[in-house]
Amino acid sequence: MKYTEPMLRQGALKGKTIIVTGGGSGLGKSMTKYFLELGAKVVITSRNMEKLQKAADALQQETGGEVLPLACDVRDYAQVEQVLQDSIAHFGQVNGLVNNAAGNFISPTERLSASAFDVIIDIVLKGSKNMTLALGKYWIENKIKPATVLNIVTTYAWTGSAYVVPSATAKAGVLAMTRSLAVEWAKYGIRFNAIAPGPFPTKGAWDRLLPGDLKDKFDPAKKIPLKRLGEHQELANLAAYLMSDFAAYVNGEVVTIDGGEWLYGAGEFNQLDKIPNEMWDMLAQMIKKNK
Ligand code: HXC
Ligand code: NAP
Repeated sequence: MKYTEPMLRQGALKGKTIIVTGGGSGLGKSMTKYFLELGAKVVITSRNMEKLQKAADALQQETGGEVLPLACDVRDYAQVEQVLQDSIAHFGQVNGLVNNAAGNFISPTERLSASAFDVIIDIVLKGSKNMTLALGKYWIENKIKPATVLNIVTTYAWTGSAYVVPSATAKAGVLAMTRSLAVEWAKYGIRFNAIAPGPFPTKGAWDRLLPGDLKDKFDPAKKIPLKRLGEHQELANLAAYLMSDFAAYVNGEVVTIDGGEWLYGAGEFNQLDKIPNEMWDMLAQMIKKNK
């Protein structure tokens, strides 16, 4: 058994229809692929229909599953409602939502225009709110249950992070929404969870967050205790579990999958791992002598 292998049993998502925002690229596409392999029907959305259609064709061919690509800017509530109507018309009903669409770039905050800050808040926080509200109203009104929402956040949703402040602000809001609605809408049979990934190589994130030779200068694997980046299948495994009925009692949780990255940044003495083994004997002697 390896962590790069599919984890759940065949048919684990059979009978479910899931909307994955930003499902035409990166992690959204990888999660969609695995959901399809597990028997789900998937609606993928983003702003770029050409990209979505290409992804849908490839995914259908690879998995034999059913994918519906729909263009939708998550910032626009009317477009979000249209996606829901089109999904119901095509598949009969919708049972799951993965809020995965995001926008992000690195910048000193004082260099951002007001609209640059807004664009990230609007995609991440307002977009997740739009999708969640539309789907939630539909589930509650039509008594469709169980239903599940999975929000893709980041570990800096709770630590904060310099240079990605609009993203950190928005993801913190999404996390608060996850935990709040996990309680409020549990009575309707709707579960809410989140995943906080560490670095998983994708073109979207890498080109914007580690442009040019920043990739080499700030090799993200170096600050991960497990000394490697994430593999898409391991994130897809976790997402599929949380979307499945196997996770029926998991509600309001945020699962970190980052090889220990954020805790490494948080522990006051963690940088002592730079001290070579031979030096520890010497340090121990010095400390004892000072007693
Ligand atoms: C400063 C910038 C900027 C930059 C855009 N702007 N890029 N400001 N630095 N690098 C400003 C523009 O000047 C403009 O302000 C405003 O932002 C809107 O820009 P547009 O290009 O008009 O917006 P739009 O086309 O909607 O594009 C949104 C985007 C873009 C966020 C700017 O990057 C995008 O489409 N991203 C989607 C994919 C993505 O970002 N994926 C990464 C997710 S990774 P003015 O004032 O001129 O109007 C992620 C991982 C986190 O979240 C954790 C990793 C470990
Ligand atoms: P990505 O491929 O760039 O994914 C972002 C997706 O969002 C794209 O498909 C994009 O498609 C879509 N999108 C952007 N703006 C949109 C809008 N206004 N309306 C609808 N869709 C929109 O990057 P990724 O790395 O896979 O990121 C996926 C998720 O994982 C994000 O939530 C990100 O914050 C999170 N994450 C990633 C990492 C990582 O290391 N990769 C780490 C932590 C968290 P269009 O451009 O076609 O609209």
